[in-house]
Amino acid sequence: MRRHPVIGRRPPARLSLVAVLSLMSCETGPKDPVETASVPAPTPAAPPVALEPAADPAAVARGQALIDRFECVRCHDIPGREPAPLEKHCVRCHQDILAGQFPAPPETLREWQGHIVHLTDVPALRGTDRLRRAWLADWLHAPHDLRPGLNSTMPRLSLGTAEAADLAAALVPDAEAAAPPPGAEGRGRELFGAKSCGLCHRFTGAPNIAPAPKLPVPLDEAQLQRGLAQAPDLRFTRERMRPAALVAWLLDPPRHKPGTPMPKIPLEEADARALAAYVTEVPLEPLPAPKPVQRLPLLDRRVTWAEVEAKVFKKTCWHCHSDPDYARGDGGPGNSGGYGFAPRRLDLASYTGIASGSVGDDGKRRSVFAPLPDGTPRIVAHMLARHAEVEGAAPEQRGMPLGLTPVPLTDIQLVDTWIAQGRPQ
Ligand code: HEC
Ligand code: HEC
Ligand code: HEC
Ligand code: HEC
Repeated sequence: MRRHPVIGRRPPARLSLVAVLSLMSCETGPKDPVETASVPAPTPAAPPVALEPAADPAAVARGQALIDRFECVRCHDIPGREPAPLEKHCVRCHQDILAGQFPAPPETLREWQGHIVHLTDVPALRGTDRLRRAWLADWLHAPHDLRPGLNSTMPRLSLGTAEAADLAAALVPDAEAAAPPPGAEGRGRELFGAKSCGLCHRFTGAPNIAPAPKLPVPLDEAQLQRGLAQAPDLRFTRERMRPAALVAWLLDPPRHKPGTPMPKIPLEEADARALAAYVTEVPLEPLPAPKPVQRLPLLDRRVTWAEVEAKVFKKTCWHCHSDPDYARGDGGPGNSGGYGFAPRRLDLASYTGIASGSVGDDGKRRSVFAPLPDGTPRIVAHMLARHAEVEGAAPEQRGMPLGLTPVPLTDIQLVDTWIAQGRPQ
C-alpha cells in the first residue's frame, strides 16, 4: 500500500541454514571440546525439502466451487471462468471509467476519475501453480500486503482453514517439480543491480542495491507503470514460490503467466539460478513489531453528520454499504452480501441508514454505535482494526474499509466524537 511502507504479516519463522548449523554445533560442541576440535564435524546436508505432491482431486473440486461462492471473478481474471458482469466487477468498471470508456457524459466521467483510487488493478490468477500450496492456504486465510505499489489488498474473506486449503488446491493442483541446483548467491547479488530488478521491486529487509538506471529491455510508460504497481515485495518470495518455478519464472515470466506485467529480461540459465539464490538466500532484517493502533481522544468541538458523511461514509464506505433500493437491488457486499459474506444489511449512505444498524451473527439487528466490551463503538473498532491489519496484526474485528486504505486516525476520531455527542444531524 502506497502510504504504508510494506509491513505485512510476519511470515512463519524459518530457521536459516546458518541458524541450523550453529544449533547443531551447540549440541555437540560443549560436551567434548577436544574431540570436536580434532575430528571435523561432517558437513550437515541441507534439511530435505519435501516436494508438494499433486492435490487431492476432491479438494480441487471443492476449491473450484468455492471460487464461485466467494465471487473471486469480481476482482480477478481466472482462466476458464467468465468474468463478473460489468455492474458487479469492482476492478473492470473502475478501469473503464479511468480509461474514459464508460458510457457517461464527459463531465461526469471527469468527476469520477478524480475520485477513484482503489481497485484499479489486481494480479490475474494465472500460472498460480508457481506458488507453494501450503503458503497460499495460510495467506488466503490471513492475507498480508504483497504488492507495495497497489493500495488495495486481498480482502480478509470469511474463510476457515479447510476452505482456504481447498481454494489453494484448486489454484495449485499440480505436483511440485524438483529445482535445478542452486546458483551462486554473490553473482545473483551483482546481477540484481545490473539488471535493474530494484527499479520495480521492493525487497524489504535486504541490503540496498542501487538498480542500474536503464532497464535491459525497452518498456513503454504504460508497461512500466503496471510493472511498478504489481511488482511483489521480494521479501515474501522465499516463502511463497516453488524453487523450480522461481528459476523458470525468471527466465521467461510471460511464458509462465501470459499477460504478466513482469517483462522478459534476457538471462542465461546460470544467471537465473544465481538470481533465484540471491532472492531466496540473502539474509533479511526482521520486520518491526506491529505498532499498537492509537484511538485518539475525543474532540472538544461539535461534529455533525454532514462532516462525517463527507469525510468518511460517502467517501469510501457507501460503495460497499449502500441503499439497495437506490442501487438496483444490490446494496454492495457490506449490505446485500457478496464475496461469500452473508448480508449484514448495513447502509452507510444516509443518516437513517446508519442509525438502523446491521444484522449480527444471530440474525438480529444491532447498533453499530453500541460499545464493545473495551468501550469502543463497534463501527470505530472496525475502522481501527484496518490500521492493525495493515500493521501486520490479525485483529478480532474485520478491518473496514475491507481490503482498502485505512481511514486516517483523525477522521476516525471525528466519527468517535460524533457518536459520543449523540450523533447531531
Ligand atoms: C475485492 C477484490 C478481491 C476479491 C473479491 C478477491 N481478491 Fe484476491 N486479490 C485482490 C487484490 C487487490 C490482490 C493483490 C494483493 C497483493 O498483492 O497484496 C489479490 C491477490 C490475490 C492472490 C495473489 C496472487 C499473486 O499472484 O500474488 C491470490 C492467489 C488471490 N488474490 C486469490 C483470490 C481468491 C481465491 C479469491 C476468491 C476466494 C479472491 N482472491 C478474491 C483482490 C481481491
Ligand atoms: C458500474 C461501475 C462500478 C462498479 C461495478 C463498481 N464501482 Fe466503485 N466506483 C464507481 C464510480 C463511478 C466511483 C466514483 C463515484 C464518485 O465519484 O462519487 C466509484 C468509487 C468507488 C470507491 C471510492 C473511491 C475510491 O477509490 O476509494 C470505492 C471504495 C469503490 N468504488 C469500491 C468499489 C467496490 C468494492 C466495488 C465492487 C463491489 C465497486 N466499487 C464496483 C463505479 C463502480
Ligand atoms: C518492469 C518492472 C519489473 C522489473 C524490471 C522486474 N520485475 Fe520482477 N516482477 C514484476 C511484476 C509486475 C511481477 C508480478 C507479476 C505478476 O504477478 O503477474 C514480478 C514478479 C517477480 C517475481 C515473483 C515474486 C513473487 O513473490 O511472486 C520475482 C522472483 C521477480 N519478479 C524477480 C525479478 C528479478 C530478479 C528482476 C531482475 C532481473 C525483476 N524481477 C525485474 C515487475 C518487474
Ligand atoms: C470493499 C467493500 C467494503 C467497504 C469499502 C466497506 N465495507 Fe464494511 N463491510 C463489508 C463487508 C463484506 C462486511 C461484512 C463482513 C462480515 O460479515 O464479517 C462489512 C461489515 C462492516 C461492519 C460490521 C457490521 C456487523 O454488524 O458486523 C461495519 C461496522 C462496517 N462494515 C463498517 C464500514 C465502514 C465504517 C466503512 C468505511 C470506512 C466500510 N465498512 C467500508 C464490506 C465493505
